[in-house]
Amino acid sequence: MGISYDSERQIFLINTEHTSYIMGLSNDYLGHIYYGKRVNVPCGRSMLRDSEMAYFSGNIGEKCTFADSYPFEYGTGGTGDFRESCIELTNVDGYTGCEFKYVSHRIYKGKDALAGLPHTFGSEDDTETLEIRLHDEVLGVKLYLSYSVFAGIDAICRSIRIVNDSEAAVEIRKLMSASFEMDAADCGRPMELISLHGSWARERSLDRRPMGHGGIVINSNRGISSHQDHPFIAVVSPDATETAGDVWAMNFVYSGNFEAVTDRTQHDRLRVMMGINHDTFDWTLRPGEEFTAPEVVTVYSAEGLGAMSRTFHDLYRGHLIRSKYLHMKRPILINNWEATYFNFDTEKLLSIARAAKESGIEMLVMDDGWFGHRSSDNSSLGDWQVNTEKLPGGLEYLVSEVNKIGLKFGIWFEPEMVSPDSELYRAHSDWAIAIPGREASQCRTQFVLDLTREEVRDYVYESIAAVLRSANIEYVKWDMNRPLTDIGSTKLKNQGELLHRYMLGVYEIQERMITEFPNLLLENCSSGGARLDPGMLYYSPQIWCSDDTDAMERLSIQEGTTLMYPLSAMGAHVSDCPNHIVGRTTDFATRGIVALSGTFGYELDITKISEADRGLIPKQVALYHRVNDLVREGDYYRLASGRDNGEFYCWSVVAKDKSEVLVSYVQQRGGANLRTRAVKLQGLDTEAEYILDRSMCDGFIDEKTGDAADKNSAAEESATEIYRGDELMYVGFITDKLWGDGKGRLYHFVRKG
Ligand code: DGJ
Repeated sequence: MGISYDSERQIFLINTEHTSYIMGLSNDYLGHIYYGKRVNVPCGRSMLRDSEMAYFSGNIGEKCTFADSYPFEYGTGGTGDFRESCIELTNVDGYTGCEFKYVSHRIYKGKDALAGLPHTFGSEDDTETLEIRLHDEVLGVKLYLSYSVFAGIDAICRSIRIVNDSEAAVEIRKLMSASFEMDAADCGRPMELISLHGSWARERSLDRRPMGHGGIVINSNRGISSHQDHPFIAVVSPDATETAGDVWAMNFVYSGNFEAVTDRTQHDRLRVMMGINHDTFDWTLRPGEEFTAPEVVTVYSAEGLGAMSRTFHDLYRGHLIRSKYLHMKRPILINNWEATYFNFDTEKLLSIARAAKESGIEMLVMDDGWFGHRSSDNSSLGDWQVNTEKLPGGLEYLVSEVNKIGLKFGIWFEPEMVSPDSELYRAHSDWAIAIPGREASQCRTQFVLDLTREEVRDYVYESIAAVLRSANIEYVKWDMNRPLTDIGSTKLKNQGELLHRYMLGVYEIQERMITEFPNLLLENCSSGGARLDPGMLYYSPQIWCSDDTDAMERLSIQEGTTLMYPLSAMGAHVSDCPNHIVGRTTDFATRGIVALSGTFGYELDITKISEADRGLIPKQVALYHRVNDLVREGDYYRLASGRDNGEFYCWSVVAKDKSEVLVSYVQQRGGANLRTRAVKLQGLDTEAEYILDRSMCDGFIDEKTGDAADKNSAAEESATEIYRGDELMYVGFITDKLWGDGKGRLYHFVRKG
């Protein structure tokens, strides 16, 4: 890792362990030279292509000729660069157009915080930052482009700050957080774009397409990062796979509207950028003010998508997620949503708690429906007072009874919302986001609170903090169940600021909450996984992945989620069958295997499921205790995908020291006359011998030996098979032949000695 500036040649070199990012100056314009595999001799300036004849006039020195093709690091519109621009500013007289020239830079140890925004962090020992200052003399505006690198991690975290040093206000109509340019084709074969699309209960499916000429936009305008599109893109070489090929990825550390744009130009260059969605954004920057755009993480991998994912995982576990629970086993929870929906009372919850305790479950989470007079999703959001008809004795009684049973207690809130049928709305209907004179759209019979207003944020915070102060509550599920529409706030002069100010409001409240309650385990959620993004991970170490808890559907949802997010962050539960969303019945064991690759918990009425299934829970719980350290902290590999083969998924987690690997194998669909399948593992010690421990193969483990067992001796006791690491990686091992749909196996290999 290291950052340097060659003043003679005017070249910036940013190195991570295996990648280099290079920029140069031409006539004080900052240009992009290279992003890719690490080069130890800094490139020359030739890649700036600043003396090429690029226009019909043939006049090399002309500004328009230059601007039309120069690889601007941060392209500005209106002055000759016709590609997608990164920034659009309008001055008080309505003039557009801007151009920024290099003024100075600083390279420093560590990384500054982005005030009010989620951001990656690092210490002076492991992090270095380059900040380049650019200036538009006509507008009197400065731009600060930041690039931070972290020891041992092949990611660069980037952000932009804009400062208005002029005497007049400037309108920011667009401000991307990061951009770079590259060749659009690899020896004539166009680069491809990977993005994630979805819907409610169908989040993060992988899309891959070749990039023709022109632009592609992946974005959200729903006020949240959304189910539909995800703030992630990867430009990949056409030959890129899980294990090979070039990948240039971007992920946005933000939870609101975003856009990711690629623009393939007339000269077969590709401009790639990401930032706040400018369609729904406008910001007035008054004299002396500054604005910081959220951070973008860029990752280059020369070894395909797998290495890209592991880089994101390491970055997020090491430099983004702050919770004290990050490196701890999370309590195994049972959530009553799919067990009871709104239909519960104290006795029902306690009966679930008692049965859960007997099975080794550690926490009861009371989901939606405990407050106001809410018995369906039609009322009471905003009235965060316990419904004592449902829960006589209130929370104090319920929580203390649950604690007496021996379980921790967690609770659900949807703090950003207000129901029209609520005391809050009757008192403060103007607190809902709406356009005056226009009937605001309801969605799930609710409105969104105007969190741009301080008094609204204070009400929200104080009402949920009062609940948290009133009883021994150790976990919060923070839900958010509708998109933002009717963008209007009576208190704002510029309505274009609302959506970003709203996000800042959400971040502020969550920051207050985790500051006052540092021991609280916070899980974010948004109708499942509509706000599963790096922004929310800054506040909560885990996020509910999807409302689709069906184990077969979860295979692709979780696979897409692992492109950037570590398994430790993915909320995953075993639920009841037939599954409430898709009606499918899957083996209890397979449901456990899939949920074990997330935070793990249960979402069912344990008092009502079959005795057989209930009897298996302690064995699953023991298995969780055995494997969770590895799942949470290890290196993750996607080994086979049902998306490609139509039949089965296989993935593994390898310990950082390569001493053990857990392989999860799930057959989605059985088939006739199939041969056994060989799976090749990755990331092992090629010289070492690994013992296959079959004691957890069926997805359960003996609850008595589970947690305490020494992994090596457990493996040796049940060992019949010993493999060398290179054999497992290059030859593979044969998985069990499974009969039927939705069957799974777990294989635990432990290094010998
Ligand atoms: C949506 C969440 O994703 C569910 O898990 C559940 O909490 C419901 N909201 C409750 O309304």
